[in-house]
Amino acid sequence: MSGRIPPAFIDELLRRTDLVELIHARLPLKRVGSNYQALCPFHQEKSPSFSVTPDKQLYHCFGCGASGTAITFLMEYENLGFLEAIEELAQRVGLETPTGGTPAAQEQQPLYTVLEQAASYFQQWLQHHPQAAPATHYLQQRGLHESIIQEYRLGYVPPGWDNLKRVMVSSPTPTAAQSLVAAGLLIEKEVGGHSYDRFRERIIFPIRDLRGRVIGFGGRVMGDEKPKYLNSPETPLFHKGKELYGLYEARQAQRRLESILVVEGYMDVIALAQHGLRNCVATLGTATTSDHLERLFRLVREITFCFDGDHAGREAAWKALQTALPQMQDGRDIRFLFLPEGEDPDSFLRKQGRAALEQQLANAIPLSRFLFQRLEQACDPSTPEGQAKLAKSAQPLLARLPQGVYRELLQRQLTQQVGTVVTIPSGPPAPARPAPRPPLRPRQQATAEGRLTLLPQRAIRCLLQHPDAAHQPDLAEEWRNLEEPGITLLAQLLDLIRNHPGINTAGVLTLWGERDPHHATTLQALVTQELPLPPEALAAEFRDALQRMEERSHKLERDRILEEQIQKWGRERGKREPPHYQVGDEPPPIDER
Ligand code: UTP
Ligand code: MN
Repeated sequence: MSGRIPPAFIDELLRRTDLVELIHARLPLKRVGSNYQALCPFHQEKSPSFSVTPDKQLYHCFGCGASGTAITFLMEYENLGFLEAIEELAQRVGLETPTGGTPAAQEQQPLYTVLEQAASYFQQWLQHHPQAAPATHYLQQRGLHESIIQEYRLGYVPPGWDNLKRVMVSSPTPTAAQSLVAAGLLIEKEVGGHSYDRFRERIIFPIRDLRGRVIGFGGRVMGDEKPKYLNSPETPLFHKGKELYGLYEARQAQRRLESILVVEGYMDVIALAQHGLRNCVATLGTATTSDHLERLFRLVREITFCFDGDHAGREAAWKALQTALPQMQDGRDIRFLFLPEGEDPDSFLRKQGRAALEQQLANAIPLSRFLFQRLEQACDPSTPEGQAKLAKSAQPLLARLPQGVYRELLQRQLTQQVGTVVTIPSGPPAPARPAPRPPLRPRQQATAEGRLTLLPQRAIRCLLQHPDAAHQPDLAEEWRNLEEPGITLLAQLLDLIRNHPGINTAGVLTLWGERDPHHATTLQALVTQELPLPPEALAAEFRDALQRMEERSHKLERDRILEEQIQKWGRERGKREPPHYQVGDEPPPIDER
C-alpha cells in the first residue's frame, strides 16, 4: 500500500488539488474571512462548524474533530480506499499514478465502460424501442412514474438472443465479446465459443456502486416465466453478497442518511422511493451478510430490516440477527419490521399507503426484543427447566456481541429473566473507532491504542481453532504491513494454512513445530484458550479481525500523510500570515517536535 506510492507523488497530488473546489462540488461552502464553512458532512449539526482552510489545504470540524486532506476527505465522504482516493485525485488533476493504479483497477476499467454502455442501451430501448410497449405498460401497471424510472435508470431488453451483442460487438467502435462475457452480459457456451445475451426480454434494473458506477444488472420478466429475476453473475466488479441495490440512489437523495431500511426486492426499493421513503436498499436475493452490515454501518447507526411476517420471513430475520450480533457495538441500533403475512413493502404501500407503512416502521421491534422473544418461545421461562434452557440458548448468542454497555445490558436482561446470574464468555474486543472522532494528533499517540494489539492474537486463535477460515474469498490482505506484535506470526500462519488446504489444528501445530519450535509453544498456548464459538462464527470473527486491522493500517497511513502536511505547514507558517480562526475556536494541535 504505502510503499508503492512515493510520498513525493502524494505531495504533488495534494499541491495540485484545490481542496475548496473538491469539497464545494459536494457540499456548498460559504466564504468566511479567509476560510470556508459548511455544515459538517460527518456529523449532524444545525450551525456550521466544518471549516476548510485553503492556505493549508486542510479541513477541520470543530464539532466532531473530523479533519484531514483531500485524500482523507474522499476516503470518508465517498467511502473510498486509500488507493482509490489517490487514483480519483490523480485523474482529476491529470497525473498518472506511479504504480499505474492498482492492478485490479487497470483490469476493471474496461468492464465499467462496457456496463455503462449497456445500461445506456437498455434505457434507450425502454424509451424508444419499437417493441418496448409491453415493458412501458408493465411499469405503468406497477404504478411507477417516469421520474423514478429515470432516477433508477430502468431499462428494457426486447426479445432476441443478440440485441446487446449486435450493437456492442459490431458497432463502429466494437467491444470485444470477451469484455462483455467478463462483465456478465454475454453467456459463452464454452470458452472461445458462441456467445449470446444473458438478459433477454426483461425489464432491467442497473445496480450501481456507491460512486454511481454500474456494476451489474437485475432483469425481471413481465409474465410468469422463471426465473422471475435474473441477476448478473459474480464478476470482478459485482459481488452479490456485498452489494446493496439502491444504496447509491439513497445517498444521492439524502447525503446524510440517519437510518436505512433494508428490504428484499428491487421493486420494493423503487416503490418506497416513489412514496418519498428514500433511505431504502435491498439485498440481491441473498441473505444479509456481515459485508452488507459493515457497509451500512459505515453510513448510519440505525438499520431496520423489513421482512414478510410469514415463517420464511421470520427465519430470514433470525439469520440476519445472528449475522449482526458481532457488529452490535454500542450506539448501533438494529430493528425488525414484520409486515402482515404475504405482503412486501411494495404491495403494502399500494394497499395501505405511506402513513400506514410509517406506522409499522415506528413499531419495528429492537434486536434485543426479537432475540428474547424468539428464545422464550422455545422454552417455558416459568419453570426452572425452561429458565436453564433459555440461559443455555442465549449464552452463545450474547457471547458474539462485542464488549460494551449493550452487551452488559442484554446480559443483565438474561439474568433477570432467568433469575440467576448467567455469565457470558468474553466476546470480541470493543470497537476500534471511538465516536466522536479524536482531533488531529501526532503519530506517536495514534499508535498507542493498546487494545488493538489484541486483534492479531484473536485472528490467530480463530485460525488455529478453525484453519478453514483461511480459505474464505476476499479476505483483507493489506494489514500485513502493520508493525504490531503478532502480525508476522499471523501472516506466516495464514500462508502455511493456505499452502496446505484441508489441514486441521493438529496438523498446523505439527508443521509449525518443525519450522519454528519457539513460536510453537505460543501457538500451543493459544489453542488451549478455546473460543466458545461455532466454525461459522470463527470464520466471521477471523474475517472481521483482518478487516479491522486493515482499516487500522489505512488509518495509520492517513494519519502519517496528515502529520506530514501539518508539519510542512508548521514549517511554512513563519513565512505566511497566520490562519484565520474565530475567537474561542481551538486551532488543531501542531506537532511541535
Ligand atoms: P420476490 O420473489 O419476493 O419478488 O424476490 P419481489 O421483489 O416481490 O418482486 P416483484 O414485486 O414480484 O417484482 C425478492 C428478491 O429476490 C431476488 C430479487 O432480488 C428480488 O427482488 N430474486 C427473486 C431473484 O434474484 N431471483 C428470483 O427469481 C426471484
Ligand atoms: Mn413484490
